[in-house]
Amino acid sequence: MKHAILLKPNANIPYFEEMKKMCIYEASIVLKAIGVDYSDIKVEEIGPAHYMFIETEEAIDQDLFGHIENLSFYYTYFKVVDESFMPVKKVPERYFGEDLSNRLKYNGKTNEMFTRMMLNLAIYTSKYYAKEVINVFDPVCGRGTTLFEAMIRGHHAYGAELDKRSVSELGQYFQRYLKEGKYKHQVVRGKAIQNKLVLGETFEAYIGTSKEEVKKKTGKTIKVLRGDTTQSNLYFKKQSMDVLVGDLPYGVQHMSKHDEGHSRSVDELLDASFKAWYQLVKKGGALALSWNTYTNTRDELKEKLEQAGFTVIDDEIYLGFHHRVSQAINRDVIVAIK
Ligand SMILES: C[S@@+](CC[C@H](N)C(=O)[O-])C[C@H]1O[C@@H](n2cnc3c(N)ncnc32)[C@H](O)[C@@H]1O
Repeated sequence: MKHAILLKPNANIPYFEEMKKMCIYEASIVLKAIGVDYSDIKVEEIGPAHYMFIETEEAIDQDLFGHIENLSFYYTYFKVVDESFMPVKKVPERYFGEDLSNRLKYNGKTNEMFTRMMLNLAIYTSKYYAKEVINVFDPVCGRGTTLFEAMIRGHHAYGAELDKRSVSELGQYFQRYLKEGKYKHQVVRGKAIQNKLVLGETFEAYIGTSKEEVKKKTGKTIKVLRGDTTQSNLYFKKQSMDVLVGDLPYGVQHMSKHDEGHSRSVDELLDASFKAWYQLVKKGGALALSWNTYTNTRDELKEKLEQAGFTVIDDEIYLGFHHRVSQAINRDVIVAIK
């Protein structure tokens, strides 16, 4: 069977050419996880748009189709019969609107489509890819792109971020979004204290389809620790995260002078963080981290992750995610499992 997926028009991504290659690797990882055998995957330009063509032995049934819709570049799907495109009408079911992660604009934001791609790499490498609701942790969450991407899919989102302004803006933005969208919710702001040690401030929100669900906290949860990620293991429950996804600090001044996240080197941060993060991830869970290859090599990162206990995945389909972001940033993605 031949399938065509219309790629989201993403004219403003500076690395679109490399993104096309990454889309193929992402699709390969997802198809492998869900057990779909394919004989060919390619991206082709037709007129003003780009399509991914996938050839499979068998039809992709309704259940598996839900995974295809999760692909970061997914826009519309067609069955291809005798060179004719047959549109398959289905709007993905989402808990929050797709706009949740793209409305807030700021310097240093991780591109939403790239973030969704990383989320997929972690989810479809973990053994929890078929679970309807999982816990997603971004240990360097900034103003929350990963957290919002996770919530769009109906997952619970947990984050840590050192910079006060980022967490304050994340909280204000999300609270406004919930109010405007008339979601039933409760927001709690507090302090994280562990054995008399103040770890930082916290932002939590509970969202539900009824007041009861909000009160009992059985709907959706987002929790952010405004504090040092190396202490995130003291705040979040051990072995509670199905996946961990983060865009690591680039090691270059990227945000305003007042941001606190650049006070130490990336190396020091990683040495101290990986062990803490390992404690938080469930067995069978996975992580996907992007980093600036000008600050660390893949081998250095791999060694640090494996010292902490993770197993880095080096299969060929995991090695095609390097791309140029700017003059000072060449980014790559590393994926590991616990
Ligand atoms: C590349 S940015 C992530 C941006 C985020 N994905 C977004 O779209 O908003 C990396 C973040 O790591 C944060 N950071 C650096 N050191 C940290 C630490 N020790 N603990 C927590 N966050 C830290 C920085 O403040 C920065 O917001």
